[in-house]
Amino acid sequence: MRGKTWTATFIAIAAFTAAVALAGGSETKGKFFFKKNCKTCHTKGAKGGEVTPLTKTQEQWQRYFKTGTHNKETEKLSTFLTPEQMTDVQTFLVNHAADSPQPETCGG
Ligand code: HEC
Repeated sequence: MRGKTWTATFIAIAAFTAAVALAGGSETKGKFFFKKNCKTCHTKGAKGGEVTPLTKTQEQWQRYFKTGTHNKETEKLSTFLTPEQMTDVQTFLVNHAADSPQPETCGG
């Protein structure tokens, strides 16, 4: 009886952790990938124009990643950012969006 309860508890915790990891992504890694990959085209004066977490609200970022507004550029992006890395970038941008508790320009 005891053993069964433990097993059930363990499975519940493992499932919960997995769900959180999937939905969340890593903010720290996202910041790194954003600077390394997105900033190549998204600084002031670059061809994509300046983009920072502050460019959009949390809701706008969620919508942006759902639909995606890059045209041909998006196809190029997927060649060097995996879906997990894109989730990380999304997590970083959403967590520091204009209306987030910790807005961040990511200037540096
Ligand atoms: C190869 C160059 C390039 C890279 C790399 C790039 N972008 Fe872009 N991006 C553009 C260009 C050009 C535009 C404007 C035309 C368009 O929307 O397709 C743009 C537009 C955008 C816009 C729309 C701006 C607005 O005000 O709505 C967002 C948001 C954006 N990019 C986010 C990103 C993110 C996030 C990444 C990294 C995952 C990224 N871009 C990487 C070239 C790039």
